[in-house]
Amino acid sequence: MFTGLVAGASSFVTNPLPMKRSDGFNGHFGPVRKMNTLSLAMAEVKAVKAPGRLAIDDDALAKNSKHPTGLDKFRTELATNAKKLVLPGKGLLACDESTGTVGKRLESIGLENTEENRMKWRDLLFTTPGLGDYISGAILFEETLFQNGHDGKPFVEVLNNNGIIPGIKVDKGLLPLYGGAIGENYCSGLDGLYDRAVSYYKQGARFCKWRTALEINEAKGMPSNVAVTEAAWGLARYARICQEAGLVPIVEPEILMDGEHTIEKTIEVQTQVVAEVYRACIANGVYLPGSLLKPSMTVPGVECKEKASPQEVAKATIDVLEASVPSKVPGVTFLSGGLAEEDASIFLNTMNTEERVGPWSLTFSFSRAMQSSCLKIWDGMEENKEKAQAQLKARAQANSEANLGKYKAGSQPSLSESLYQKNYVY
Ligand code: 13P
Repeated sequence: MFTGLVAGASSFVTNPLPMKRSDGFNGHFGPVRKMNTLSLAMAEVKAVKAPGRLAIDDDALAKNSKHPTGLDKFRTELATNAKKLVLPGKGLLACDESTGTVGKRLESIGLENTEENRMKWRDLLFTTPGLGDYISGAILFEETLFQNGHDGKPFVEVLNNNGIIPGIKVDKGLLPLYGGAIGENYCSGLDGLYDRAVSYYKQGARFCKWRTALEINEAKGMPSNVAVTEAAWGLARYARICQEAGLVPIVEPEILMDGEHTIEKTIEVQTQVVAEVYRACIANGVYLPGSLLKPSMTVPGVECKEKASPQEVAKATIDVLEASVPSKVPGVTFLSGGLAEEDASIFLNTMNTEERVGPWSLTFSFSRAMQSSCLKIWDGMEENKEKAQAQLKARAQANSEANLGKYKAGSQPSLSESLYQKNYVY
């Protein structure tokens, strides 16, 4: 009988995979075409009672818990909000850059990194007329969630009035992972997370994100098993804790573009990482219909000589998702990871024109690939504000159309070339 899924953290680490199963699954996650590996693994839980059935009963997992939890209270709301975030033609504006990172952006247009200037920049984004036609949610940094706009109105109210659900980045950033490969990091922020999540919900946030990042570097042994296990477990703990407080968790295991690796290598690593993330989510009783995935698109390393076409990227990304993401997850909201604005839109559009069996909405949650041209056009000048807002709306429209598979390459303006930056710190 398969027992690995509902085990605690230590058996998850030491005994992560069932080794012999009647359905032929051999216990190894790999780039398996058109097979939802986690759904098969989950089916094993159900199969104890109903052999041969592939249906999953999420409620049965939560009922294993002896005590009623916040998750029980928020279950319906979580699923409703997760669905709202990925309605057809909608995606997310990620503007949760830490104070240091947004500061670098402001400095690139000659503005000092002050609270006032950070407010002005976010105010420009959120007051863009009609932005809510394309954007369902905005991911904020903590300062912004509690900040007021230029007219004294709380940003939470400004966003809600524009039809945009406020969200919050809850991780505390990457720190050195001792015991992993040299140079690897883990994502911090679990301590005190429940209390913070409660206060964010009270302030109006309804979803959240936690980003961890893994690098591919075969010579350095990256990502190490320790880094993958830690990334997956941290994401799952975060997701479960935030669901207890009513926030829809966006689970973001980024595979960095840094490196020379081929797209095939990215497929292999990303499939294993995402599969491991969902194994950990299931072990932690994460309510999958009330959660979202935010992966990177499946691309070769930026220094790889063989470049990939939009069709190759779309096919590789779909391959990864179909092999590793449970069908109960309502949506996949991609990060842009250093792709140019136009490339990110074209890749997303191509995915949405390809045939696939995975049922999720494939949409966007871009930061750099949505804000870069807008920032350049604004240039910190009040008189450029309207033009900058028009640019933001244009990219939002491009990505909305890409979610529907209707974007015509080049039909919306962009000033940005590759936005890739080596060792980018979020
Ligand atoms: P990029 O789209 O710039 O990679 O940012 C994604 C992100 O995680 C911000 O929330």
